[in-house]
Parts: sequence; structure tokens; C-alpha cells
Amino acid sequence: MSGWLVTGAAGQLGSDVVDVLHAYGEEVAAYDRKSLDITDRVMVRATMRMVEPSIVVNCAAYTAVDDAEANEDSALEINAHGPAILGEESARTGARLIHVSTDYVFAGDAETPYDEKTRPAPRTAYGRTKAAGEQAVLTSGADAYVVRTAWLYGQVGGNFVKTIAHLAQTRETVSVVDDQIGAPTWTLHLARALVALGIADVAPGIWHCTNAGEASWYVFARAIFAELGLDPARVLSTTSDEFIRPAPRPGSGGTSSSRAGTASSPCAASKSSRCRAGRASSSSTGSSVGRSRGPTSRASRRGSAPSSSPGSRRAGPSSTCG
Ligand SMILES: NC(=O)c1ccc[n+]([C@@H]2O[C@H](COP(=O)([O-])OP(=O)(O)OC[C@H]3O[C@@H](n4cnc5c(N)ncnc54)[C@H](OP(=O)(O)O)[C@@H]3O)[C@@H](O)[C@H]2O)c1
Repeated sequence: MSGWLVTGAAGQLGSDVVDVLHAYGEEVAAYDRKSLDITDRVMVRATMRMVEPSIVVNCAAYTAVDDAEANEDSALEINAHGPAILGEESARTGARLIHVSTDYVFAGDAETPYDEKTRPAPRTAYGRTKAAGEQAVLTSGADAYVVRTAWLYGQVGGNFVKTIAHLAQTRETVSVVDDQIGAPTWTLHLARALVALGIADVAPGIWHCTNAGEASWYVFARAIFAELGLDPARVLSTTSDEFIRPAPRPGSGGTSSSRAGTASSPCAASKSSRCRAGRASSSSTGSSVGRSRGPTSRASRRGSAPSSSPGSRRAGPSSTCG
């Protein structure tokens, strides 16, 4: 057994995990949804048998938070049933499983950040399905690591940064909610932390991992305007009451890590992040069908169109901000 298997490899986070592994010279088998549907047990088993990974990173998910309210069964299939299969197959083959989850498993109304010991209490369909996925991998018998993160933005796919950048070009002012607080997290940083966790000598279990600091979506949007050399005063403050979404957004709380600062934590001691962006060692040899060493084709990845309507003057978290 050797190397890494990455699911959801064409997604925002998955593509960065693959890029980080390539940069570190790791042997990586990267699968997008078409080449490996995680809800297909036969496909998962055959792929695991062929690749024989020592580490599986599950970046595949149903991330359309609002759509999940009307399609909870579909979300459950991908966010819980698929991870259960990956967990069972990882347990059977002895692979370590890193599974990515979300702060939506919490109610989002706490005064203080949620740490790893807090019991999930999701308020949305998306959150319920992600919480079910966590349980499935944690009870699968696999060497399973559940990594909860939040407010992702990266180069691939749609996200809040791209939405705001687009609205900045098409609107004079943009109203953004100021009463939802979170930790905007760069997917490249999270990807490095996931890779560090993959090789760390630490116990399985739940890990909270975001970039350090916090902001409201409004503050974040102003920072994006400033970064683009535009006037942040064009961003106007609004509230969640003015911007009703099918799925209620977590207002506050965010996540903290009770592991941060512990010597055994790969997420400890980072200057820029609550997660340590560690450097993986290289141990790859050989290659076979389905394995790749070159960068994943950008052309095969999702487009970078903003996920909210350009006609909208208000921007909350984008619909994929799960
Ligand atoms: N985005 C955020 O702000 C955020 C915040 C907290 C946690 N998370 C978590 O972080 C992880 C990565 O999120 P992301 O932002 O990278 O999401 P993303 O860009 O939507 O990527 C998810 C990928 O999973 C694929 N996928 C969907 N169903 C699949 C299936 N049955 N089998 C295999 N692949 C499947 C999707 O393919 P298609 O596009 O073809 O459907 C997509 O490429 C997820 O677990 C998510 O819950 C995200």
C-alpha cells in the first residue's frame, strides 16, 4: 500500500489537495465525480483495490447548502452514504481516511467558538447530512480523521470572493450581511493541513481547521474590494433578516480547536492559521492506471463563474459556502 487517493478532486478543495500532493512529490490518484462516484460501492471497492492507497482524502460532497433543503435525500446520499462506503473500504484495506466536514454541523448561535468536543446540533438539511457523514466515518472502523472547516475560497469553482469580485465589476454598490461571523479559509492552506494530518503521528478523531482570525461577510467583502484596489465604501452593510435564504446561516460561534497548541497537533503553532500548513514528505514510487503525477487538468475543473446571480445587489455567503 502506498500513496494517496483523493475524491472530489475537481472541486475547490480537492484540486488544491491534489496540487499540494504533486508539489510534494507524493504519489496521488485523483478522482473527480465522473471517474469515482463515492456513492457507488462497487466502483469504490474496485478503485481502492486498484490504487491500494495508504491515505484517502474525501473532498467529495454535496455543497449546495440552500438546494439541500429541498433535496435532503440526495445530499444525504453524497454526504453520508458515500463517506460510509469510503469508511468501510478504508477499514477493510487499512487505509487512513481524512474526511472533510463543516461548522454547519453546529447550530451557529453560540457566544463562543465550538471546539471538537461540542456535540453537533445542525439546523439545516446540509448540516444534518454532513453530521451523519461524520458519524458514518467515525464508526466505520477506519483510521478516520474528520476535519471541520468553514468559509472556503480557492482558485477553482465559485466562491464568495469571486462573487464579490464579479459584483464589484457590475454594480455600483453591493449590500452584504454583517451579522454572520466566520473564518474565511484559503483552500490551499487547508489542503496543506490535510496533507500534514495524513502523515502525522496523531490519534484519529475530529479536528477543527480554519484560517486564523474572523470577519463578517461584510467585512470580508470590504477587504476583497480593498484588495482589488476598489473603494470599500461601495460595500454596504445589511442583516440576515434582509437577506432570507432557504437554509438559515450560522450567525456566530465559528470553530476553535481544543487541539491547537498541543505538541501532537499538525494544526498547531501556525502563524497564519489555526491549522498548521505542514510539509509532507515524499515517498512515491511507480504509477498505474488512474494514478497521476502531473497537475490535474484545469480544463476538467469546474468553471469559475460566481455562484450568485449577477443581478443581485446583495451578497450573502455563496450557495456553495458550506
Ligand atoms: N465551500 C465551503 O465554504 C465549505 C465550508 C466548510 C466545509 N466545506 C466542506 O469542504 C469539502 C470540500 O468543499 P468544496 O468547497 O471543495 O466543494 P466543491 O467545490 O463543491 O467540491 C465538491 C466536489 O465533490 C464532487 N462530488 C459531488 N458528488 C460526488 C459523488 N457522489 N462522488 C464523487 N464526487 C462528488 C463535486 O462534483 P460536481 O461538481 O460534479 O457535483 C465537486 O467536484 C466538502 O466536504 C464541504 O462540505 C466546504
